[in-house]
Amino acid sequence: MYKYDAFLKTLNSNPIVPVVVIDNYQDVLPLADILLENKCKIIEITLRTERALDSIKLLKDKDYDIIVGAGTVLSSEMFRMSEDAGVDFVVSPGTTKDLLKYAATSKTPYLPGVMTSSEILKLKMHGFTIQKFFPASIAGGINALKTYASVYGDVKFCPTGGVSAENYKDFLALPNICAVGGTWIAPKEKIASHDWETIRQNLKVLFS
Ligand code: 3PG
Repeated sequence: MYKYDAFLKTLNSNPIVPVVVIDNYQDVLPLADILLENKCKIIEITLRTERALDSIKLLKDKDYDIIVGAGTVLSSEMFRMSEDAGVDFVVSPGTTKDLLKYAATSKTPYLPGVMTSSEILKLKMHGFTIQKFFPASIAGGINALKTYASVYGDVKFCPTGGVSAENYKDFLALPNICAVGGTWIAPKEKIASHDWETIRQNLKVLFS
């Protein structure tokens, strides 16, 4: 699957993914400026707020040089709307038959969420060998991922959910991790209050 070879390269070269929740869709522009300023070229905008798709569209309309994912995609309809907004990849916290069916025919790379060994196996059998391990801290964290490396050697994971400034390096050091994601980098309340300085400092620690 060519789109997944390319997607794996994208994640390997951008292994820290800020996962964001944006209430005021225009806040995405100053946020993206700060990310790019700090050499972070990827963002996952979760579809948890009313105008999330508008913030994705805005970044694309303004031609920002940043890879944009849609997160918390819960249905094929949301997948399609994300594609219409111009996203580069789609992420979901779990999967449904409907989502898998849609993703199989879509040109957009899909990062499906898994939490258990059976889910990993099922998705691997469907050809999805890059998976979101979620919520990583509850699903077994580093120890579970170490075990999955020996069982499912060809599956690469992007853990999210409980990944933090304190533990992200431990996750990234594992051979089966292609990237990590989290809201700690640009927390919802810091975006809402325009506390760009805190976000800038968080990024400096990660990207300098
Ligand atoms: C996600 O959707 O990936 C999670 O909300 C990220 O989890 P975190 O808030 O623990 O970083």
